[in-house]
Amino acid sequence: MADSARETLKLVVVGHVDHGKSTLVGRLLNDTDSLPPGKAEAIRTMSERRGMPFEWAFVLDALQAERDQGITIDTTQIWFRTPRRDTVIIDAPGHKEFLKNMVTGAAQADAAVLVIDAQEGVAEQSRRHGYLLHLLGLGQVAVAINKMDLVGADEARFRALEHEVRAYLKQLHIEPAAVVPVVARDGDGIVRRTARLAWYDGPTLVEAIDRFRPAVSAAGQPLRLPIQDVYKFDERRILVGRIESGRLSVGDRLLFSPVNRSARVASIEAWNASVAPREAEAGQSVGITLDEQLFVERGTLASHMERPPVETDVFRARLFWLGRQPLRLGQTLKLKLHTSEAPVTVQSIERVIDTGDLSSARAEQVDRNAVAEVVLRSRAMLALDAHDALPRTGRFVLIDGYDIAGGGIVSMQGYADQRGLLTARATNVRRVEHRVGIDERGRRNGHVGGVLWLTGLSGAGKSTLAVEVERRLFDKGYQVYVLDGDNLRFGLNADLGFSPEERAENIRRVGEVAALFSRAGFIVLSAFISPYRSDRERARAAAKDRFHEIYVRADLAVCERRDPKGLYRRARAGEIAEFTGISAPYEPPEQPQLVVDTGTETVEQCVDSMLSYIERNFAFGK
Ligand code: ADX
Repeated sequence: MADSARETLKLVVVGHVDHGKSTLVGRLLNDTDSLPPGKAEAIRTMSERRGMPFEWAFVLDALQAERDQGITIDTTQIWFRTPRRDTVIIDAPGHKEFLKNMVTGAAQADAAVLVIDAQEGVAEQSRRHGYLLHLLGLGQVAVAINKMDLVGADEARFRALEHEVRAYLKQLHIEPAAVVPVVARDGDGIVRRTARLAWYDGPTLVEAIDRFRPAVSAAGQPLRLPIQDVYKFDERRILVGRIESGRLSVGDRLLFSPVNRSARVASIEAWNASVAPREAEAGQSVGITLDEQLFVERGTLASHMERPPVETDVFRARLFWLGRQPLRLGQTLKLKLHTSEAPVTVQSIERVIDTGDLSSARAEQVDRNAVAEVVLRSRAMLALDAHDALPRTGRFVLIDGYDIAGGGIVSMQGYADQRGLLTARATNVRRVEHRVGIDERGRRNGHVGGVLWLTGLSGAGKSTLAVEVERRLFDKGYQVYVLDGDNLRFGLNADLGFSPEERAENIRRVGEVAALFSRAGFIVLSAFISPYRSDRERARAAAKDRFHEIYVRADLAVCERRDPKGLYRRARAGEIAEFTGISAPYEPPEQPQLVVDTGTETVEQCVDSMLSYIERNFAFGK
């Protein structure tokens, strides 16, 4: 085992099943003098007795056998020692749970060795494993081109393979630290340089591994303590969990997400220490008590007030699918994220990635062992992190029935952190009752107030329809007013741009304004792209049952052809970032109250169907 004062590196060895990973690991152990004394000899003798030629892979088999007999405690982890430090190979190659463990984060490596057979070359599985490293953000990679003896230790063959594998990894933004020719069976290039590979002047595999850095300690990152359990002891409630990142001290104010409540740490409980600790950090399992009773349960994520996790009900998932059945659009699965569980629905399958050539295509389903980018939506708010910000709380597993069917990492690209929209800052405020009732206004106007929320792509015709319907309703004596995206961005929302957060805030404000107008008795026609479902649902909640969602539909191609403001052209040219439909998402309504299709209907037809909808739904007394 490692002695704790020494630095340790967590390494994973990946590659095609037949490319010699086990032999390479056996050799690594032997050539670094990391095998228990006599082990290699014992295996050699045993092979002879059985009349089999000795193979280094037997070392792993022997360790595996001990594991099965329960002799060694934890041999999914295999250690070897170099002069520099201890390295642990997590999740032995060949282990059938390997992919699953990588995807689920059971195995969190600092660095990887990708093994490629010199004769076979870069196989599909090599590419898939390469992709997995990229997906998991593992940038420290060494490539071992194995079985060089089978290609006559030929330098030209090596260079060609090196070129190929570097080109592939480059597309994944991985630059291997070294590409090393080896003959794992004989030990060439592992620790020793040998005559037959004399033309190679780079580092040996062990030298390359020794140059990797262990991941920075998670203790320096923002605090994340997913609550695993809440124990009630006499009067006290003890919140228990493992600190995934950061550190906490007694007296710290913690924020609990997604419940959005806070309290101070009153104590850190110790099970076997005589003095209660004052601090704890990443990697430790702790029990804490709070100075206030909050409703906190398993799955709640604790952080500090500064640098809290993201709150969202939708995110982009880069996913590795392992399910026997393909993943399908609209399917509901159980999402496991740190200690929380929530049902999620596959809202869209954005692309399925061919790990062979890294091309991607739109698809209706994701097959077993495929990699895809999908958008997942949950009913409840989730507390999570984007994987590139905080890996430990930024990965997830999907459960189908009782089986792990996939896993991957969270990306928030194109989606907003909704925390700001949910957090009420004002305290000591109290509602004032109006003395003019809603009914009184309705009776005088002859119609009820309400919000007609037009959503659709830029150029779909929202504003055109809104102002036309406004004119017609006004002429009929209605109290009516248009709230238009472009217009409000000159005033109320002049401080907002088009990032996901700013759009969310844009729609939050407009949703509130529209609700106010509707309570004042007006029919409000709001014309905003409002690309996010979550935002529109918030606007609906503000106006309660007076909210009518109207989907102004037109294909992207149609809108782009119209391009009334020349914005699509500029967006395509890269002059406008985050343009809806081009480089930012649009989530069409699921169950709009009315759909008008400006691609197939005339303005007049659309206006008529809106007017008749209004006549049916806004008469007073109905
Ligand atoms: S929303 O997405 O936040 O609902 P909103 O309806 O207020 O957008 O404003 C959309 C209008 O802003 C578009 O009609 C277009 O004229 C202009 N615009 C400028 N930049 C963008 C962009 N990046 N994406 C979409 N519309 C944009």
